[in-house]
Formats: sequence, structure tokens, C-alpha cells
Amino acid sequence: MRNIKPRTTLFIGTVAILLTSGLALAHGGATGIVKERMDLMDSVGKSMKTITEMFQGEKEYAATAVRDAANSIGSHGGEQLTRLFPEGSIQGPSESLPAIWQNWERFSELSEDLTKYANALATAAENPRGPGMSGGRQGGMGTSPMGRRNPMMGSTGGMPMNDPATLAQMSPDAAFARLTQTCSACHTQFRKKQ
Ligand code: HEC
Repeated sequence: MRNIKPRTTLFIGTVAILLTSGLALAHGGATGIVKERMDLMDSVGKSMKTITEMFQGEKEYAATAVRDAANSIGSHGGEQLTRLFPEGSIQGPSESLPAIWQNWERFSELSEDLTKYANALATAAENPRGPGMSGGRQGGMGTSPMGRRNPMMGSTGGMPMNDPATLAQMSPDAAFARLTQTCSACHTQFRKKQ
């Protein structure tokens, strides 16, 4: 027993340090409004991961889970997002670009799109999965005419795909594609390259 005790103490001490520094570093020391929006984006990212796994066939598709995650994303867009971007707030570890305030109208529009397309996906979640819409990397559902696999390149070619109400009537895959493109569009223009 004499040998075990000091080691145990050391072990517990190490774990405590790891946990503490882990928390402190979670967002590279972000504070205030920057931390708030990083947390919001984190939550959006987690919901998106849940959804993506299902569309890519890594997990079985579950309409309820897709709907819930999409609703959660929807609740974080629009005003909820833009209010976390007071002019010039790029301090600390923020990955935001000053372009946000030079092109506020576009930024706001994309924030609105986030909610619109997330809501469209929530509504479409129970529609039949779409042939030709993008069934994931395994290609189980056929190939995608919208190039969902590379959202940044994928142009929807305008019309129905840009209308949330129409998307809500289509396959969940179509709405998912549009949502993914919204993330990319905003990150490309307004977030530092990773
Ligand atoms: C209207 C613009 C916009 C949209 C739409 C958007 N993002 Fe972001 N996102 C940003 C900005 C700006 C940052 C950088 C925030 C900062 O660090 O100040 C960011 C950061 C992130 C981060 C990193 C958060 C962290 O911990 O630092 C993740 C993850 C993320 N976004 C996921 C997503 C996903 C997934 C979507 C789509 C479902 C999405 N975003 C849609 C603008 C957007």
C-alpha cells in the first residue's frame, strides 16, 4: 500500500490539471461575445454532425432525429446569430473576418438562410429520401445533380432549390444539400481559412 498511495495522488492531480486546461483551452481563451458565438456555432456544428452522419449513411436515417437537430440549427440563425456580431468584434481567438461588417447585408442574409434552410430540412425530414439527391459517399441513393459532395462547388442552378417552401416539399436530401451550402457560403466569405 505504501507505493500505491502517492501514485494515486499523482494520478488524480494529473487528471485535474488535464481537465482544467482542457476547459480553459476549449475556445482558445475566448471570452464574452466571441465565446458566446463560438459556443453557438459549436452547437450548430454538433447538430450538423448528427445530421450529416445520417445523410452519409454512417448512421441509420431517423427522421425525428434529423428534424430535432435541424430545428435546433434553425433556432440559432437569423437575429440570434447576427446579434452576436457587434461591429469589429474579432478579438482573441475569433475566426471572424472584418468582411462581416463590410458586407453586413450579405452576412445577415446568410444568417437568415441558415434558419430558412434548417427549417426546410426539419419539415422535409419525413419526406421520402430522394433519388438523385445525394445519398452519401457510398452512393447508396445515387449521384447528386447538385454536387452535394462538394458544397462549395455545387451550384443549385437557381430556381426551386433556392426556395425554402419548395425544398420543404422535396426530399430531405435536397434540403440538406442547401443547408450545407449555406454553412460553406458563409464560412468561405466570413471566416478565416482553417
Ligand atoms: C451567417 C454566417 C454563418 C453561417 C450561415 C454558418 N456559420 Fe459557422 N461560423 C461563422 C463564423 C463567422 C464563425 C467564426 C466565429 C468566430 O470565431 O468569431 C463560424 C464558426 C463555426 C465553427 C467553429 C466554432 C468554434 O468553436 O470556434 C463551427 C463548428 C461552425 N461555424 C459550423 C457551422 C455549420 C455546421 C453551419 C451550417 C449548418 C454554419 N457554421 C453556418 C459564420 C457562419
